[in-house]
Amino acid sequence: MENIDWKNLGFGYRKTDYNVRCYYRDGKWGELEVSSSEVINLHMGATALHYGQEAFEGLKAFMGRDGKVRIFRLEENARRMQHSCEGIMMAQLPEEIFGRAVKLAVSLNRAYIPPYGSGASLYIRPLLIGTGPEIGVKPAGEYLFMVFVMPVGPYFPEGFKPTDLIILRQYDRAAPQGTGKYKVGGNYAASMVAGVKAKKGGYSAVLYLDSKEKKYIDECGPANFFGIKENTYITPESDSILPSITNKSLMTLAGEIGMKVERRKVPYEELPTFEEIGACGTAAVISPIGRIFDADEEKEFFYGKEPGPWSTKLYHKLRAIQYGDEPDLHGWITFVE
Ligand code: PLP
Ligand code: COI
Repeated sequence: MENIDWKNLGFGYRKTDYNVRCYYRDGKWGELEVSSSEVINLHMGATALHYGQEAFEGLKAFMGRDGKVRIFRLEENARRMQHSCEGIMMAQLPEEIFGRAVKLAVSLNRAYIPPYGSGASLYIRPLLIGTGPEIGVKPAGEYLFMVFVMPVGPYFPEGFKPTDLIILRQYDRAAPQGTGKYKVGGNYAASMVAGVKAKKGGYSAVLYLDSKEKKYIDECGPANFFGIKENTYITPESDSILPSITNKSLMTLAGEIGMKVERRKVPYEELPTFEEIGACGTAAVISPIGRIFDADEEKEFFYGKEPGPWSTKLYHKLRAIQYGDEPDLHGWITFVE
């Protein structure tokens, strides 16, 4: 294994030693298999390649001060992958297999879990694809589930420093009654034109408005949106955003530190009224937002060059639970032997 500069890791692919695979054939899931190859052998007619039968997850493992390895919200990610499978008609993976595969992939690559104090973590990428060949548009008969892992640092290079977003109304990542609430590859393909445009302009992501009326805030590229004002944590209710597990956790923590919590439609007009705003997700953790530029109306909204007090509190609370510095009162942690 090469020397890794744990403190300066970015977010990107990095080879680790092993991945775990499980095949669905003849109507049932097989045994877990361990592979040291980064390559998969795939039929050219696989539905994943032609018709986007592909769903993924993202979760993280953390090395504690006590030398114990903690996976954050494993069961929630397993359940969400099942919803994604329902959404695009793929064979559903039992939660139990998801859990065993994730734990095995983490323990086999233990050497790649960033040390306590580095601020980095082990990103876990479960992936489920239709492998059976179909040329008519219909669900595959065969599937492959895989889990691979890699050490990562912050998703937005700023880390826990404010980053900027842009509103571009001519692009949607998902349709109003579409697949936005599932973690499926098609949503991300659909977000790339706008995402690259945002990056070229110096913005870290697109802030999407609802695709039906463009009246309400949906989410930010690869993360959910929250706004804070008058001691209240406010986050959009929408059928076309990914139900973020980080956001769900933050709503619980916000309540615990004495904030009110509102999950509701958030009108665009409310943007200037927030004292703090942020993007949240597994990869993004909490990324405070410093500025939003509305490219269509040429308007700017400013939220400050430093993270706000509530975002800072929530960030430290979440990280403390993930690294084991604070007790896990909600059963969010799974230990890996
Ligand atoms: N929204 C989108 C579109 C995402 O890709 C992600 C990342 O997983 C999130 C939100 C955040 O979800 P979670 O907190 O479960 O990682
Ligand atoms: C995550 O936060 O896990 C994500 O999937 C975001 C992005 C890398 C797609």
